[in-house]
Amino acid sequence: MTELDRLIRSMIEAEGPMPIARFMQLALQHPEYGYYVKGDPLGVDGDFTTAPEVSQLFGETIGLWLADTWRRSCKPSPFALLELGPGRGTLMRDALRVCDRVLGFPQAMKLHLMESNITLREKQAETLGAYNPVYLEDLSDLPEMPLFVIANEFFDALPIYQYINTEAGWRERLIGLEGDKLVFVQSKKKVPMPLPEELPFFEMSMQAIAIVQLLSAHIAKHGGAFLIADYGATQGGQGDTLQAVSGHASVPVLEAAGQVDLTAHVDFAALAQVARRQGAFVPDVTAQGPFLQALGIEIRAAQLKLKATPEQAKAIDEAVARLLDPDQMGSLFKVMAIVPEGQNEVCGFT
Ligand SMILES: C[S@@+](CC[C@H](N)C(=O)[O-])C[C@H]1O[C@@H](n2cnc3c(N)ncnc32)[C@H](O)[C@@H]1O
Repeated sequence: MTELDRLIRSMIEAEGPMPIARFMQLALQHPEYGYYVKGDPLGVDGDFTTAPEVSQLFGETIGLWLADTWRRSCKPSPFALLELGPGRGTLMRDALRVCDRVLGFPQAMKLHLMESNITLREKQAETLGAYNPVYLEDLSDLPEMPLFVIANEFFDALPIYQYINTEAGWRERLIGLEGDKLVFVQSKKKVPMPLPEELPFFEMSMQAIAIVQLLSAHIAKHGGAFLIADYGATQGGQGDTLQAVSGHASVPVLEAAGQVDLTAHVDFAALAQVARRQGAFVPDVTAQGPFLQALGIEIRAAQLKLKATPEQAKAIDEAVARLLDPDQMGSLFKVMAIVPEGQNEVCGFT
């Protein structure tokens, strides 16, 4: 049992069952024992591999999207470019390799990063140090200027609440103790807010909603754009999507808090609704495969292969297949854009 396991058990003993969001917050962000506070979980030797770590083609394609969207926004200068949860800085480094070639973009851009992990911050200093990034502890510290935001596999790491539609009405799903074991239990109290009656189960990330609300309002007021790539469904009501991953394999959710990655699918419909309420425009959410294809990832891959050895060319083909194939990352992963109302043509979205 880890120190964090012991702490969570003592909290439940003292205060009763805890919301899943509280458990996730402790498991992922506890200042000493949290999973996303120290260590590098990415890559083949880690727990999972993300799209930017699969191939430079991913970040370069996002760079094209950024450059195109900045140009369509009448090339604001200065502007803030923000990445939420930049990992090793790979996506941003590859994206900026493209954007640095766009006249006026590097001179106008002020890079901002939001990152909770000390080890990953050190890696970001190596990949992105030349851009002098400003680290944000609080999103309300953003400068009042046009804002372009990228978030790849950030929102799935935010705590969620879960609710069950029982015969007695909606009840929150909590984490309690059975002997020494952590178990899921139901709250005896009614849920004090309306939830969709037609669904048997409901998940919600208040933190995700708060972030999208704040950044959409900023973009609606000052201009810019927000691109979210993550796994999830375009419609809500996905059921219980809470999962734990360690060493590239699925593991029990309630064991080894702080040692394993905990995630939930992103509810894109809920985030789109929040953004629209702030006066932003949100085109239909699209799957990652068609989005990357619309931006020309296969053309860039063919270009890279011109100078590649046969082994490198094979690796490029495999990476493209991994990013695009519907049975790999092409379909489960979705992409959502948020732009100011009136700017209704967004590259990669129909
Ligand atoms: C799954 S990784 C994705 C990394 C990167 N975007 C990529 O695609 O390779 C999640 C990233 O978000 C960071 N992160 C998770 N929760 C965070 C939070 N609440 N605040 C700031 N950063 C967070 C992690 O440290 C990590 O950099």
